[in-house]
Amino acid sequence: MLKRKDLLGLKDISAEEIAEILETAAQMKKILDQNVKKTPHLQGKNVTTLFYENSTRTRVSFETAAKILGANTFSISSSTSSTQKGETLIDTGRNLDALLTDVIVLRSAHSGAARLLAKNVRAAVINAGDGTNEHPTQALLDIFTMQNRFGPLKGLKVVIAGDIRFSRVARSNIWGLNKLGASVTVVAPKTLLPADVAGMGCAASVDLDASMAGANVVMGLRVQNERQTSPPFPSVNEYAKYFGITAERLNLADPGALVMHPGPVNRGVELSGAAADEPNSVILEQVTNGVAVRMAVLFLLTRR
Ligand code: CP
Repeated sequence: MLKRKDLLGLKDISAEEIAEILETAAQMKKILDQNVKKTPHLQGKNVTTLFYENSTRTRVSFETAAKILGANTFSISSSTSSTQKGETLIDTGRNLDALLTDVIVLRSAHSGAARLLAKNVRAAVINAGDGTNEHPTQALLDIFTMQNRFGPLKGLKVVIAGDIRFSRVARSNIWGLNKLGASVTVVAPKTLLPADVAGMGCAASVDLDASMAGANVVMGLRVQNERQTSPPFPSVNEYAKYFGITAERLNLADPGALVMHPGPVNRGVELSGAAADEPNSVILEQVTNGVAVRMAVLFLLTRR
């Protein structure tokens, strides 16, 4: 039974805990199929989203999940937060405690920010993306989507192509997929592979065509331009030519391979428009599944 106060990442969570979240998400998904999408699981609870970086999917997904479960929701962004006036993250968190918040959903540009906040507040903290570190609910919804299609993930080959070095989504997926027995290959130019990739428990390649053989899932990742200090490749056209997922490249994967992307998609860069829209693309299914997964996480963390 999930007994933790916070969800900060998938590196320090067990396969059994992941399974419990996914099983609970499967129950929550049934609520999404109902005509009236409302349950009392979080009635009387206060959920605050504290987003210091831009977001479309994650923020709306958490707020939708919390509202369906009957929670009161509050939303703070960097432009409306008193950190603009010099308040620290810890002081902001302690004030949210004083305002009777039960859950803080934090997105930050700083790796480790969610752990720092969690250590200093009473509220449960959910990491909604911290710098290049982790984005656990994104990986959980990715894994949930794969499991819905393939069943148990043992032996599944997942190719993740794009900016691996600066991607919290790649890290959380690698930790989570490894725990469930999938085999992960990351593909990027050398400048976008993490320096410690050899110790991450996945295969690494600079050759996307060669990596596609036998792939059951092909996941594209955006180039995180906002985290780069110098251009990682000579031109976007050249990057797309060698590392872009196209309909032609998908023909090299296992027939029926899923096309996935956490969004936002940069069409024509990491993923061609045709690949993004092809029948095996589950990009929007991922988004809907994200609501069910976040409902599960919110419920499990507030049960105590
Ligand atoms: N996948 C994801 O984190 O998207 P947003 O940045 O829109 O939240």
